[in-house]
Amino acid sequence: MKLLNYKVINKKNKKIYIESYGCQMNFSDSEIITSIMKKNGFKIISEKYDRADIIFINICSIRDKAEQIIKKRLEKFKILKKKNKKLIIGILGCVTKKLKQKLLKKKIINLIINPNSYRILPFLIQKINYKNKLFNISLLKKETYSNVNPVKLNSNGINALISIMRGCDNICSFCIIPFTRGRERSRNPYSIIKESVKLFKKGYREITLLGQNVDSYKWEDLNQKINFSNLLSMLANINLNLRIRFLTSHPKDINKDVLYTIKKYENICNHIHLPIQSGNNRILKLMNRTYDREWYINKIIEIKYILSNNCSISSDIITGFCSETEKEHKDTLLLMDYIKYNFSYIFYYSERPGTLAEKKYKDNVPLLVKKKRLQEIINKQKILSLESNKKDLFKIYKVLIEGYSKKSKKYLKGKNSQNKIIVFPKKQYKKGEYINILIKDYNNSTLFGITF
Ligand code: SAH
Ligand code: F3S
Repeated sequence: MKLLNYKVINKKNKKIYIESYGCQMNFSDSEIITSIMKKNGFKIISEKYDRADIIFINICSIRDKAEQIIKKRLEKFKILKKKNKKLIIGILGCVTKKLKQKLLKKKIINLIINPNSYRILPFLIQKINYKNKLFNISLLKKETYSNVNPVKLNSNGINALISIMRGCDNICSFCIIPFTRGRERSRNPYSIIKESVKLFKKGYREITLLGQNVDSYKWEDLNQKINFSNLLSMLANINLNLRIRFLTSHPKDINKDVLYTIKKYENICNHIHLPIQSGNNRILKLMNRTYDREWYINKIIEIKYILSNNCSISSDIITGFCSETEKEHKDTLLLMDYIKYNFSYIFYYSERPGTLAEKKYKDNVPLLVKKKRLQEIINKQKILSLESNKKDLFKIYKVLIEGYSKKSKKYLKGKNSQNKIIVFPKKQYKKGEYINILIKDYNNSTLFGITF
């Protein structure tokens, strides 16, 4: 812990350029890294990486893209390194052991570091001698970056991500996260509240609480125990105009307390991201998800009972997991029809070295079949999203304005509580305001409306 107070001397005013890939957690981590580096005298530049003294690639190897991305980016940065031998290139984030072995062979990389060790980054940078590679992918068990005040990157000034916990104690057989991010630990709630109040004062109007399994958030000291529903209430009480969202809920952990808390506070959004991964019981068992189809359906019934159809549900789905048959794949399609997800993130299975699945099962569904199933699930979701959006026709929604629509500055966009994107004519309205919109049209990704 002495390292925390280490004074960076040589590298003062050096310019850092950070690229982030993958999940929202990784983007949130880049904001933590930025804060740590700034505090230690480094400058962060957001464009013109050719002027950087240090380039960080913050990568995510949950799926198989990490290696290709690193390869592509290094080809670009190689040219810079030829011109400037002192350019430091670091790979940060979820790096698997196997990927680390490959990266260690690449001369151009100076540093490899895992998500639990960002506090020592300024120190490591100072130690770089351009001959040996430095790496630290040990798992510091307790790090939550509680007292780090993340610096917002690429922000619209309205929506902010806040990490409330790190790591994961579940061992879904396909997932690398427990191995790259370590055991689950929750951040001090008062530091979360402090960060949220600060953001609200700066004009932010929506925070998304991030964790691999937010419903198992737990923190205690001698006087009190705080669980996820307590945390939600505390944050909802900051200001009615501060919206709260959260990701991800594991079906086994979301409970009635959380659902009733969502119901109680208008500013806690009516949207639950509840990944099913597969609709077939044998596959769910192989995935070690600890619930089955029937249990999941009952959970959805409970959500709808407490929060009504007003609550939107989204999911993550993996196609072509080890030994998945055509019939088992169809079970997922049927389950999607039954639940009627508002939207889903869909991936084909990619074996991750070091996971339970890699050790125990054969990755034996051919890539072409995985991709065909992926497309079928995407097509199904498009139909479901369209049906869901059709139901919103002529409804009125309270929308938080986030900025201009993608296509025209004559239109603004924002989201309703259910996390749907709504586009409407700009008129005199500004981002950060709440406004009631009557829905007049839709497609499978967007609702279009008017003020009245
Ligand atoms: N904590 C979250 C998920 C984190 S990873 C949860 O409980 O679901 C985000 C998503 O990536 C997962 O939900 C899963 O759908 C997908 N994913 C993880 N590992 C994968 C792999 N090896 N291949 C394909 N998709 C994967
Ligand atoms: Fe991964 Fe499962 Fe945890 S998907 S992050 S091991 S809940």
